[in-house]
Parts: sequence; structure tokens; C-alpha cells
Amino acid sequence: MILPIIKYGASVLRNKSADIDKADDFEHLSANMFETLKKSQGIGLAGPQVNVLKNLFIIDTTPFTDNETPKIEKAFFNPEILHFGDKIYDYEEGCLSIPGIYENVKRPSTIEVRYRDINFDIKEEKLEGIEARIFQHEYDHLEGILFIDRIHKLKRKLINKKLQHIVKNSH
Ligand code: NI
Repeated sequence: MILPIIKYGASVLRNKSADIDKADDFEHLSANMFETLKKSQGIGLAGPQVNVLKNLFIIDTTPFTDNETPKIEKAFFNPEILHFGDKIYDYEEGCLSIPGIYENVKRPSTIEVRYRDINFDIKEEKLEGIEARIFQHEYDHLEGILFIDRIHKLKRKLINKKLQHIVKNSH
């Protein structure tokens, strides 16, 4: 089932999500989230974006996949970032909740993470590249943070009109 995606301006995007106790209850939701993400041709989707304030998100790199970039299609429950790497780089981000806006965001290129997978087994991994980037963007959603909070103040001012347009059209 395709779920409606919550747009910028809604308070649910600014709240903190809570941990989940078991994956079973969210298997159905994550399946719907994968379907929604594929349809919107996005690469990541977090609980609050579908009005669920729970610590879960999904990643599907299909739109970015080529001969050198393998496809990653994973659900992450109760994710944690254990360590940020030292190397920081700029990369253009967008968000399904903030349509039409793309800006460079500085983030570490590697992270060490812990999460529970679709079977609710604990995993610890070192992530890099696109997966590390999406993980950090989606993790922010669970904290009520959006990528536009991480851009330069002046840039933020410049996109303010576009943001207000999204707010007006989503209510
Ligand atoms: Ni987003």
C-alpha cells in the first residue's frame, strides 16, 4: 500500500521518535514504506515521514545502482550512531518531505552504527559512501532534524520562500 508522505511544516517531522519493542508489528509498515519509497523514486524514508513516530527507517539505493554501486535495500530498527568518522564531505541532499529542494550538506563519510534488522537481530556495521550518507539523513528524521537545518544560514534564507510554498500547499 502506498502511504501518504508527510510534508515540511507538519509538526510530526519535528518530534522525536521512540524505540520499538519488536519488529513483527512493523513488518507490514516497512513493506508499505518500501512500496512508497519505490513509487516516489527516493532512496530513504523514515517513520515520521509516514506519520509514525517510531525509530525505524528504510534505505533503497535502486535509483543510484549501477555496475560499481551495489543495491542496498534494508530496514533499520532502533538505529544508533556509535561513532562518526573524521572525514567530512559535502553532498547534495533532497528529501521526499521537502520536494524540489536540493542543497549540499556536510557530513562524515563513514559511521559506525548499531541497529536491529528486519528479524530484530542486533547488527553492528561500519558504513561508508551512499549508505552512510542516507543513514545519517534518515537518523536525523528520528530526532526531528531535517537536512535544511544543516545548511548555511544564508542558503536557508534563500530557500525560505520555497519552504513556505510547501507549507501552504500541504495543509
Ligand atoms: Ni528526508
